[in-house]
Amino acid sequence: MSELKKIQTTDGHRIDCTIPDGETDVIDASYLMLFPALIDPHVHFRTPGAEYKEDWTTASKAAIRGGVTTVLDMPNNSPSCSTIFTLDAKEELVQKQLLEAKIPLRHAFYLGADKRHLQEIPQLSHRVAGLKIYMGSSTGELLVDDPSALLDAFQICAENDLLVAVHAEDEALLKERGELYSGRSDPAVHSKIRSPEVAAIAVEQAIRLAEKTKARLYIAHVSSSAELALIRAAKKQGLAVYAETTPHHLFLDESAYETLGTLALVNPPLRSKKEQEALWEAIHDETIDTIGTDHAPHTLEEKKKPYGSAPSGFPSIEFYFPLLLNAYAEKRLSLEQIVSLTHTRPQEIFRLPLNDDIVAVDLEIERTIEASMIRSKAGWSPYLGRTLKGWPIYTACQGRLFDLAKL
Ligand code: NCD
Ligand code: ZN
Ligand code: ZN
Repeated sequence: MSELKKIQTTDGHRIDCTIPDGETDVIDASYLMLFPALIDPHVHFRTPGAEYKEDWTTASKAAIRGGVTTVLDMPNNSPSCSTIFTLDAKEELVQKQLLEAKIPLRHAFYLGADKRHLQEIPQLSHRVAGLKIYMGSSTGELLVDDPSALLDAFQICAENDLLVAVHAEDEALLKERGELYSGRSDPAVHSKIRSPEVAAIAVEQAIRLAEKTKARLYIAHVSSSAELALIRAAKKQGLAVYAETTPHHLFLDESAYETLGTLALVNPPLRSKKEQEALWEAIHDETIDTIGTDHAPHTLEEKKKPYGSAPSGFPSIEFYFPLLLNAYAEKRLSLEQIVSLTHTRPQEIFRLPLNDDIVAVDLEIERTIEASMIRSKAGWSPYLGRTLKGWPIYTACQGRLFDLAKL
């Protein structure tokens, strides 16, 4: 069906790519800028167990359209991915789905921390991106909130040189605040229940465990200044602590409850503009290392349920790169910062093998986000209607070139 050709871009770059026979082997890249393909360290592609929300046939297209060729997939599946058996079964299903999609998306999985299965970690440490610990409950059943199991998990990871990744929200405070606000049903209460303090208490606990055990620690979806202060101090102290934030915490704030209602629910929740500004500052002073999309699709029908029943999480990996490129157009980010956040730092932190995948971008083109651009099964996006300047045009993944207009 296709054969390997040398692609000569007209500005002199060369890439090795497979393109369908009969198509040109010269792409006009004179107006395009080449970037190393993006690594998304935080996705939920929902296989196994919730393939009606997403699977890898749809998500891989969405990723490639977003300029992403490597994803690290979370373990909050059904069943949770926390044993050798569930990891093997997940890999088999994912391979099948990627073959069906004909997209060789690079990927690794996190192992989910479950205190009944911590003894399996040493055998698996070389196979997974990290151990994911849900310190507070989110989507799925994974949760480790007792201090002795947490210490065990960190200890085992340190001994096996495995990165610990945390969903840092304190379960006890989360429950307490849930009761405090139990009379309210407006979705904005979500940001009150899951307050910055809920996140900061768990971040503090995780940092102390990393300090004690010498485990390498990756803090997912950092969303508040209180967390950032702790992370800044830990980095100053020389601890191997890394911070991720998300596109939604950078580009949406709690005013979105007015327009999106329960669609705006996400864990940790959307915050105030002031907290959002703190995230931007932390990008500039390099307290934040990476951006993970936290691509967490749920169906529109599920998202439209009343508060209490509607699930948390946003899709939108398709718009990850355009959102950042638009921030460049608005002079909020440099191209070097984009490459560091989306490629260099995740590659270093997760010790991923180097590759030649690239994304060719038109920095000048403006497009408005429409439902027809979505490849995720979710079929919706919190960014619908936004006009962004700067879009990927081609993505090359493992020697295959994808023309994004045709994907
Ligand atoms: C995620 C999901 O739905 O899997 N939801 C979310 O709100 N971020 C889980 C998570 O990342 O905590
Ligand atoms: Zn999470
Ligand atoms: Zn997540």
